Amino acid sequence: MQTAHELFLHELGDILNAERRLVDALGEQAERSSNPQLQKAFSAHQAQTEKQVQRVEQIFEQLGEEPEEEECKGLSGLLEELETFKQEQDPSEDILDVVSIGAASKVESYEICAYESLIGLAQDMGHTKAVKLLQQNLKEEEQTLKKMQGLSRKIKPEQSGMEEEEEPTRKRGSRRAA
Ligand SMILES: [Fe+2]
Repeated sequence: MQTAHELFLHELGDILNAERRLVDALGEQAERSSNPQLQKAFSAHQAQTEKQVQRVEQIFEQLGEEPEEEECKGLSGLLEELETFKQEQDPSEDILDVVSIGAASKVESYEICAYESLIGLAQDMGHTKAVKLLQQNLKEEEQTLKKMQGLSRKIKPEQSGMEEEEEPTRKRGSRRAA
């Protein structure tokens, strides 16, 4: 690879793959969440993500290029991390909600960085329409990250695992009762 244009297309293919896979992943997250607020947040972001896919496809179209996906390995890692946790730790419902919020925040942070660098490339090459579309996606990711951060302040593990000790202010990772 030699050019900014090629790099832009490559990175665009990467985020296209991420967004397409997230449409499914967010649907699953919504189904698996036990907290109704969390379910709603995941479903709302799933609908947003479908639009984000369309915007990325639109950019390919404007450039006269076929939308070509690249496996987004960053997202693969994040999804695998969550899947492995579920399989290995057999988390209770409340713990799973807490972990899902954390995983969603990681994904959003990753996407925010990806969109910021795509916007930088698009600006350098004078792709004004692409910049606008990418900024729209970025704004939604930022809003979703904020929403997840708000939910993480509300949705907590039910048991601290520290009940026997006299240090109620000390917070540690939660553990399921045996
Ligand atoms: Fe997204």
